[in-house]
Amino acid sequence: MKVLKFLILIASISFAQTSEDIAIKMYSRLTESIPATNSSIIQTMKGHIQNGDFLSAAKEATQSNDFYNIGLKNFAKSFTDVNNEGSIRMPLNDMSATIIGFTRDDIDFSTILSADTFYRLNTTPAFSIANNTHYESAENSYANLKTSLVADTISSVNNFAPSKAAGLLTTRAFAANSYEAGTNRAAVNNIMNQFFCKTMEQVQDSTRPATRVARDVFIVPNPTIPHLFQTRCSGCHGLMDGMRGAFAHYHFNERTMVYDDSKVHDKYSINATNNPTGYITTDDSWINLLNYGVTESFKSTLLSGKGAKSLGTAITTSKQFSVCMSQRVYKKLCLKDPSTTSEKNYILNLANEFKNNSYNMKKLFESAASSARCITDSEGGAL
Ligand code: HEC
Repeated sequence: MKVLKFLILIASISFAQTSEDIAIKMYSRLTESIPATNSSIIQTMKGHIQNGDFLSAAKEATQSNDFYNIGLKNFAKSFTDVNNEGSIRMPLNDMSATIIGFTRDDIDFSTILSADTFYRLNTTPAFSIANNTHYESAENSYANLKTSLVADTISSVNNFAPSKAAGLLTTRAFAANSYEAGTNRAAVNNIMNQFFCKTMEQVQDSTRPATRVARDVFIVPNPTIPHLFQTRCSGCHGLMDGMRGAFAHYHFNERTMVYDDSKVHDKYSINATNNPTGYITTDDSWINLLNYGVTESFKSTLLSGKGAKSLGTAITTSKQFSVCMSQRVYKKLCLKDPSTTSEKNYILNLANEFKNNSYNMKKLFESAASSARCITDSEGGAL
């Protein structure tokens, strides 16, 4: 241990960074662009760094156009990757634009899955619920996201009640990935990946009650694995089917998200003979079975409710949501997954800070970018 500390000390001396190096590194990581050394922003950041005020330096960078148009945009796009690989290749859409808008306007991120708010641009062609042209053409013509994003209400453009709007969960992009093919379980799977930073494989737990598992999840008569349903299927489906009730009235119909208040969508009752004693969905109630075991940190004060809006609130007020957001920001800015105990503790601290800062995403970026841990690339050593 002593030898290791000594080596780190040597390394940090021999690779000592000047305040200008730090300013450039911080700016590049936040904005994903290379600044000119003599640019006024780098000189201002350098001044803050010389005064030991790293946070103010980071705040300069988060005011730049590049932060909104490149760094933050790519962060927001990684939430919309259908393959859940964090890819940034997809075009800008209502989901990524909303993440950027919430960040720019310092809106409480714990409402990102429940608010009746989404962001579009003040550019033409106008926003449409039936295609993504509005966002794609704005992006292709390099509209400045720092100045041209405007907040709008999800309920008004979709023509449903405000109580049916659930932030990102009711954006067209999320709907296309979650409510089109299949049985709306993809919505829970996407939530797990994007907002809890876990896969269903990681959280499955066969001790969870199977009470909500629907009739299409067949109980396979398999002599070699007699308890397959309980040991394998209900580990995932117990919690997934418990939550998918929230989306019982949502569907994505080729081009457009559809909300039908009059009935539970037919896909909730398909293949009923597979498991005749399975759960029958009659309304949009949901239960949250994530509050114990390996998912204890996913606990929320809301353990049941009706509709996507309350489920969204249950998700974003859990500790795991804050941890996941912190982890995503850390990975983006510090270019690594938190793997050591010390890094994991740092993520927990960031998550607490995020919550205490009224879930302010911009501050989360600034805090992580200005941390010694991110700047030195070492185990949190002093600068
Ligand atoms: C690791 C988690 C996991 C396990 C274990 C699991 N499933 Fe699933 N299952 C899913 C997910 C996620 C979906 C939704 C896929 C989608 O629509 O993208 C799904 C969807 C389904 C569907 C609906 C298919 C459709 O048309 O949408 C059925 C039926 C199903 N699973 C049956 C089973 C059975 C039977 C077992 C046990 C042998 C099982 N599953 C085990 C995660 C799991």
